[in-house]
Amino acid sequence: MSGTETLREDHKQIRRLEKVIIKCYTELYAGKNIPFSDIDKITLIIEEFLDSIHYSREEDSYFPCVATYDHLKQEIRGLLIEHEFSRRIALQIKKHLKRWKEGEDAREPVARYLKTYSVYLMDHMNKEEDFFDKAETEVLSKEEELDMYEQFRSVMTISKKMEDMIKEIEYLENQPWVQN
Ligand SMILES: [Fe+2]
Ligand SMILES: [Fe+2]
Repeated sequence: MSGTETLREDHKQIRRLEKVIIKCYTELYAGKNIPFSDIDKITLIIEEFLDSIHYSREEDSYFPCVATYDHLKQEIRGLLIEHEFSRRIALQIKKHLKRWKEGEDAREPVARYLKTYSVYLMDHMNKEEDFFDKAETEVLSKEEELDMYEQFRSVMTISKKMEDMIKEIEYLENQPWVQN
């Protein structure tokens, strides 16, 4: 395994979440009921897995390592801006979900921001996977790939949290509103 492969593996899990999000906003737009606790889980996975684990692998290790070669800098800048954009959408989902729980009708904005998030995810991950291919073939050395892989693996608290997050994704995939 390498650093790049670890990030590709993360993306596979994120694509599972993306499917759940698409199902979620589709059902919301169709007027179906989805337990608030399940939408909470989606926002939790976004925060704990995407934001604190996956983005930090990219922002704190992978991108800086690629940037030392003075290569792909424009691409990195673009990807970082997209991360910030996605953090803002995630905040909107939480904000409107809170209003909805408190009794206001916020079904529409919750569905809309979930949809925006899923569009972001698809576009960002496709772009990033092209970037991974370039970084892997054009700049990163075998040693760097191995170092990053080991660094990603060595943080036990993160591996544990990662396992928990994958279980949460599995839980959501098995809910009746996702299955039907
Ligand atoms: Fe990213
Ligand atoms: Fe990514």
